[in-house]
Amino acid sequence: MDLYRRLRPLLFRLDAERAHGLGKRTLAALGAVPPLARRLERASLPDDPRLAQELWGRRFPSPVGLAAGFDKDGEAVAALPALGFGFAEIGTVTPRPQPGNPRPRLFRLPGAAGLHNRLGFNNAGAAALAARLRALPPALRARLPLAVNLGKNKDTPPERALDDYRRLLAVFAPLADFLVVNVSSPNTPGLRDLQSESFLAAVLAAAREVGAPPVLVKLDPDTELPRLVALAAAAVEAGAAGIVATNTTVDHSLAAGVRGPGGLSGAVLRERSFAVLRALGGELGGRAVLVSVGGVDSAEEVYRRLRAGARLVELYTALVYRGPRLLGEIHRGLLALLERDGLGSVAEAVGADLPAS
Ligand code: FNR
Repeated sequence: MDLYRRLRPLLFRLDAERAHGLGKRTLAALGAVPPLARRLERASLPDDPRLAQELWGRRFPSPVGLAAGFDKDGEAVAALPALGFGFAEIGTVTPRPQPGNPRPRLFRLPGAAGLHNRLGFNNAGAAALAARLRALPPALRARLPLAVNLGKNKDTPPERALDDYRRLLAVFAPLADFLVVNVSSPNTPGLRDLQSESFLAAVLAAAREVGAPPVLVKLDPDTELPRLVALAAAAVEAGAAGIVATNTTVDHSLAAGVRGPGGLSGAVLRERSFAVLRALGGELGGRAVLVSVGGVDSAEEVYRRLRAGARLVELYTALVYRGPRLLGEIHRGLLALLERDGLGSVAEAVGADLPAS
């Protein structure tokens, strides 16, 4: 019996943000009971060397991770392996705490298996997240590679944006396995203007100054492809270890009934996100780690992203629609797909569909 499928109609009667809060509190409670969390982890994240990869000196037990925005304040980290995630992006965190936009600001698009959000980086700030990360049990940290996704405060003027990222890089350099520079959320005015070669080069230089772990740049899906590819290539040239693609889309023509500003995620974003990955894969090939995110909801979709050149894949919205069984299904399906195609591991699938250079 799939309990989540039975509970979902009840959850979906709640305001979407309240349902999210309830889900997160449930996960936080689960994380506080390690024996139960470990039991669920065995069901959803098989300890199978074919799924695991070595990256940046860390073992990623699965290529599938949690996308940014689900756990902005690091409250549910201890339960993420139980959901089956092989790694997670925590955040977006801003230097100072901020409340985000007025509610309601998170909506379901049930006909489109999507979400519409204009949360606006509501979060408890860098100091609070850093304290939570420091308090995580070392055994958990050893199993779950963690990224922190960094963003500027809404009231920081554009000419001071670099200072925000510099501060965040310094705080989180010792606490994360990799960092993601978010210049692509649609809900902080002016943020996407920071998707420029010069700004990214300055952030990456700042990262080097503080001895940061690998830094990736998260891009939007709405800028035209040649421009995204040029930006990504310049970022990699300036020292980025990879690209996370993509954030939510502001193309509201993709779903019916969207009201007010915000970004769309889930199935409506799938093909756009895939098109961005394909373009980046063709240009960057093996020169950078590509993390593909947007509308991923099945083993087949994870496999398609890997074959198109993604080393890692992330999801968020599908978890809301499919519930905690999703990752177990993905992992079993992924192993079956590898077997079908005679591939010995996820690593062998990465880039299999890229044209030979
Ligand atoms: C997000 N996303 C997001 N991204 C980010 O870089 N920082 C953030 O704080 C958030 N916040 C956030 C909140 C909500 C409610 C959603 C649905 C999404 C974007 C997310 O990480 C991802 O890029 C997109 O949602 C596309 O993936 P899915 O959801 O289609 O799997």
